[in-house]
Order: sequence, then structure tokens, then C-alpha cells
Amino acid sequence: MKALLRQIRLEAQGIHSYRLEPLPNEQFPQFEAGAHIDVSISEGLLRSYSLVNDPSDNKFYEIAVQLDVESRGGSEGIHKLWQVGQEIEISAPKNNFELDETAEHSVLIAGGIGITPMMAMIARLETLGKSWELHYVSSTQSSAAYLERLQPYENAHVIFHDNTMGLRMDMAQIISEAPSGSHFYCCGPERMLVSFQELMSSKPEENVHYEYFSADTDVALDGGFKLQLMRSNKTVEVEKGETILDALLMAGVDIGFACSEGVCGTCEVKVLDGVPDHRDHFLSEADKETNKAIMVCCSGSKSETLVLDI
Ligand code: FES
Repeated sequence: MKALLRQIRLEAQGIHSYRLEPLPNEQFPQFEAGAHIDVSISEGLLRSYSLVNDPSDNKFYEIAVQLDVESRGGSEGIHKLWQVGQEIEISAPKNNFELDETAEHSVLIAGGIGITPMMAMIARLETLGKSWELHYVSSTQSSAAYLERLQPYENAHVIFHDNTMGLRMDMAQIISEAPSGSHFYCCGPERMLVSFQELMSSKPEENVHYEYFSADTDVALDGGFKLQLMRSNKTVEVEKGETILDALLMAGVDIGFACSEGVCGTCEVKVLDGVPDHRDHFLSEADKETNKAIMVCCSGSKSETLVLDI
């Protein structure tokens, strides 16, 4: 879809929000809390960003982008190139981080720019009149986005690492003090998500929700295996130093991707046979064990051949 970039706002140091509106006489699809859109930054460069605004209002989409000093073109391209009035190509919203609207209580844990999906979740939980609490950690006050919007809520707890009081978020305590049956959501840097997953390992899987926005993914580059593409009727060799995605693109197979580091879910492909070497942070451990899907941007193969449904 095309969208009109109507407004850019400085939300915090290094974080801009972008208000995207439909072109005249068009409408954006409805979205759910936790959803994201893919945005096209330049030819072949897509990135995924969570929708921040209240899902009850689909007259616009708001995303927030933090300039990453080690940007591989995504955030830097947006911060430097996007200008108000420009048309931007975006995908329809997709949701890999769904809010369970039936939960009696929701515990939202955000680190840095991981606050973005939580803003839409808070709006939705408020609309539903549901109980929630937020724990939001940022390195400094000036780099924390959306503090003004959170101010009215007593149940929104914000912690700054640079705080002279030496406060730190005690995730174990937050989890242990939550009412039984709570649903837990976490979005933040990889270290935070790893601790969250460890602490949540004894909770029922359906109560645990998390989303990586980037990861230090150990991409599989060993190659030395074949891909059998059932629907395209092709066989593709994956050479050493290549990802499956590289090999597919080189072979002219059109496949969608965005983050290239196993976090967004865009490049998921069904596996019909063979054993993937899962390296992503998107599929759950249970999904990985079934070997029914693979994220081709980063995962490899433990078997000589992988049969894919493409
Ligand atoms: S492109 Fe994002 S998971 Fe593969």
C-alpha cells in the first residue's frame, strides 16, 4: 500500500515518530494491538516497525524509529531520507505479538524502543477496561519515548539506568508478584528477552508473549546443502558463506524478507522434509522442534536436503 507521510515528531533523543495516512479516498486496514507494518526504505530494503497508535483509530498508522548507530541502512535511511509529504510504500499490518484480550491482568515489560507495541496494547487494554501494569526501562530520561503519554497512568512504572537512586528493574520480582493467571509481554533488547524467557520457562506457554526487534543472530553460513523447491520445481545449492535467502534470491526465487536477522517473521517458509538448523528468535521452541517451518534469512540445514513449500 502507499501511505502519505503526514508528520514527523521528535519523541526522544534519536527517536522519531512517523504518522502515515492513507492517500485521498483510500483507507488503511484495521489493526490489532501488537501488530507491525513493513516499510520500504529503498529498493530491496524493508524494515518492520510496530504500530504505536490506538488500534481503534485506523485513520492513520504511527511508527517510531530509533536511529541505530550500527544501522545497516534501515533506521538511518528513514531518519535521513524521509520527509513530510512523501509517499511511502508499506505492507498491511501483521501481528506476531498478539494481545490476549481475555486475560484478567496483563504485565507489559519494555526496554528502550520496545515500548512501541506496548503503547498500542495499553490503548486497547484501556478501551476494554482491563487491568494492566507497565514496566519500562530506558537508559536515560531523554532517550525514553512516550513518557508524556504514559504520565496519566499510575500503573506505568518507568526506570532509568542512569538514575542516581540506582534503581534497576527486578523482572523476577515483577513476575512473582503478578496475580495468578496474568499474561506477560516483553519487547526490548536481546539480553532482556533472554532473561524474560528464562524467568518465564515454568509458566504456561499461552501466557508468555515476546517480540524481538533486533538480535545478535548467529546466522548459518556453512552452506553445503540443497534446497528442493516443490512449487517452483527447482533445486538450489546453498554454498558456504551464503544464507538460504541469498541462494534463493540468486536463483531468482521471489521471497519476502525484512529484518534479515530472524526476528520479524517475514521470511518464514514451510518445510516439507529435512531438518532445519534454526537460528531465529521468531519461532517458539515448540515450533522449532516440529521442523515444519524455517526462517530462511538466518537458519540453515542439518540435513543434506531441505524440501521447501515454495
Ligand atoms: S527476514 Fe525477518 S525473520 Fe527473516
